Amino acid sequence: MKAVICTKYGPPEVLTVTQVEKPVPKDTEILVAIKATAVNSGDVRMRALAVEGFLKIVMRFVLGFTKPRKPILGTVFSGIVEQVGSKVQHFSVGDAVYGITGFKFGTYAEYIAVSENSVVTQKPDNASFEEAAAILFGGQTAIYFLQKANIAARATPSVLIYGATGSVGAAAVQIAKHYNARVTAVCSSKGQDLAHELGADRIVLYDKEDISQMPEKFDIFFDAVGKAPKKLALNLLNKGGSYQTVGGLDVAADKLEQLQLLRTLFEEGKLNPAIDRIYTLDEIVEAHRYVDTGRKKGNVVVRIG
Ligand SMILES: NC(=O)c1ccc[n+]([C@@H]2O[C@H](COP(=O)([O-])OP(=O)(O)OC[C@H]3O[C@@H](n4cnc5c(N)ncnc54)[C@H](OP(=O)(O)O)[C@@H]3O)[C@@H](O)[C@H]2O)c1
Repeated sequence: MKAVICTKYGPPEVLTVTQVEKPVPKDTEILVAIKATAVNSGDVRMRALAVEGFLKIVMRFVLGFTKPRKPILGTVFSGIVEQVGSKVQHFSVGDAVYGITGFKFGTYAEYIAVSENSVVTQKPDNASFEEAAAILFGGQTAIYFLQKANIAARATPSVLIYGATGSVGAAAVQIAKHYNARVTAVCSSKGQDLAHELGADRIVLYDKEDISQMPEKFDIFFDAVGKAPKKLALNLLNKGGSYQTVGGLDVAADKLEQLQLLRTLFEEGKLNPAIDRIYTLDEIVEAHRYVDTGRKKGNVVVRIG
């Protein structure tokens, strides 16, 4: 099968499209013919080993010293179940599914074998494979941090999403709206249109306005790009408010329920997949170059097959 291999840590050019053996599903695994994946900020970070200080050493232990031990990167997929292991109970051949592999990676490929008990489920009925792949990374992360902020326990929370136009931020605006929040989105002038489309109640342009001078306070300040000064965030919180950031050491744990919530929201027309660009697997280097800019708006999808 065709796959993208990461030959060493480095710039996008370390990625090579090649042929590798097609996986064979074990008894409890399903074989998925992948139709779409996405290039996320986490992927380019892994490829470049772009982490600070002692974390670099930790990551070499976790991922591999000079190159990833699991050479096929990519953590999200959508596709069709092509084969099921003899003990698989919950999936059938032909099911349209989507899932997250996390640190197991392996989605920049035509096929993947995953446990039926991993983070994989039916994709939203009305989503294309590209849309299904787009909503996973940011959606899962946004749900994790907003739930950590206990958003459901607040009746009509006021929520500030800092960096509202990335994969995580775009999803966070919409997930917060699902929890009846009044959402203030902070983004650049270039992201203004997207923030509006996502349903933000108020948009603050960080390149035109001084956020520290905002008169309002918030129940939740979610820094979805990890770039807001913590002091600024804490100053803008109501008493008892919650500050969350993607920039700390907390890694958003993947859970099946997150995918189920994303499916429901998409099927109800409440989740815009915010697809910025679509590439093919052969264009993976260009896709990584674009995501490396840190300026993408929403999600970058890779169509396969
Ligand atoms: N801890 C975790 O579990 C976890 C999980 C997922 C992601 N992350 C981290 O979260 C961060 C965001 O991920 P992502 O996938 O959403 O990234 P992304 O999609 O690459 O974010 C790009 C967006 O951020 C905006 N941006 C850049 N600088 C900004 C600033 N100073 N203020 C506000 N917006 C800014 C850009 O728009 P403009 O340039 O127009 O402003 C662009 O739209 C990454 O650092 C990632 O590693 C952490």
